Amino acid sequence: MDIKALAYVGFGSTNPLEWLQFGTHVLGMMPARAVPGVGWGPPTVPRPASEQTGIGTDGSVYLKMDERQWRIAAHPHKKNGALLYMGMEFDGPEPFATALKELKDARIEVTMGTELEAAARAVTELARIRDPNGVSIELFYGHTCDYMFHSPYYDHQFVAGHLGVGHMNLFLQKQPECFEFYTQVLGFRLSDYISFGPGVRLQFLRCNPRHHSLAIVDLGGVTGVQHFLVEMADIDMVGRTLDRAKKAGYKVVAALGRHRNDGMLSFYMRGPGGFDVEAGCQGKLLDETWRANEFCEGDPWGHDGIIDAMGESLKDMAQQP
Ligand SMILES: [Fe+2]
Repeated sequence: MDIKALAYVGFGSTNPLEWLQFGTHVLGMMPARAVPGVGWGPPTVPRPASEQTGIGTDGSVYLKMDERQWRIAAHPHKKNGALLYMGMEFDGPEPFATALKELKDARIEVTMGTELEAAARAVTELARIRDPNGVSIELFYGHTCDYMFHSPYYDHQFVAGHLGVGHMNLFLQKQPECFEFYTQVLGFRLSDYISFGPGVRLQFLRCNPRHHSLAIVDLGGVTGVQHFLVEMADIDMVGRTLDRAKKAGYKVVAALGRHRNDGMLSFYMRGPGGFDVEAGCQGKLLDETWRANEFCEGDPWGHDGIIDAMGESLKDMAQQP
C-alpha cells in the first residue's frame, strides 16, 4: 500500500474554540477559509463560503496551515483530546483502489465513506479502517486545495505540503500488532527506535521523506496522543511561537532542544487537547539510503523536562475514563 502522507487529523474537544485560539494565535495557523462540506459556489464569485471563521455549524473548528483547505479539526466531544481520526493520503483513484483490494485480501474490515462524508473532509473519496487499538484511519485521495494561506503572523509558514500535517506520537497497547498493521498493511517504514528498557521501544515510522509521521510506544495500558508536531519554516518562527505560547499562558513542558533522531529543533507545550504539542523546525528528510537503526543517548542538547512531560501524559491518560 502506497500511503503518501498523514494529511490531516481530527481531535475531540470539550471546547473547540480553544483550538481556534491556540491554532491561530499561538501556532500561527489561519481559520479554514471555508469549512469542509460547505460548497464553494461558482469560481467567479468571490469567497468566503463560510466567512473564514473556521467554525462549522456543529461547532467544529478547522485550521489551515498551507495550500490545503484544512489540516487540523477539533470536534465537539465529551472526551477532550480524543484522537477521532487520522487521514492517510493516496496519490489518486488507482492507488486508492489497489489499497482497498489489498485490505479485502487481508480480510480487514473497510467502511466506505459516503459522498457526504467525503465532502465533510473536503476529499474526493474516503474509506475507513481501524488500527488494532480501534483508532480510526481514514484512507482518501483528492484533498481540496484552496491555496491562499496567510498566517496572522506575517511571513509565518509551515512545512507541510507533500510531507503532511506533521507527526503524531501515540501511546498505545498491542504494540507488536500495531507495528505489523502500520508497516505490513499500511506500508509505513521503520526509521529508527529508542529503547526504554527490556521490551519497551519507541518506534518511529515514516511514509514519505519526513523522518516520521507516526511514533508508537506501549508504556503500559494507555492509548492516546502523547504529542503532536507541527513543523515551521525556520527557527525564528519557532522562537516567536514560544513567545506567544508563554504570553497566552500555555505551559511549556519541554524547553527548546534538538532531537537526535529526526534532528528537529523544537519545544513542547501542553495544548488545548490536554496532550503536548511540539513546535519545531529543521526536521530531517530521509532518502532511500537510510537504514532503520536503534539510537541512544537522548537529545544532544536541550528539551529539559521532556521525560517528565511523557510521565505526566502517561499519568493523565491513566486517570481518564
Ligand atoms: Fe515529536
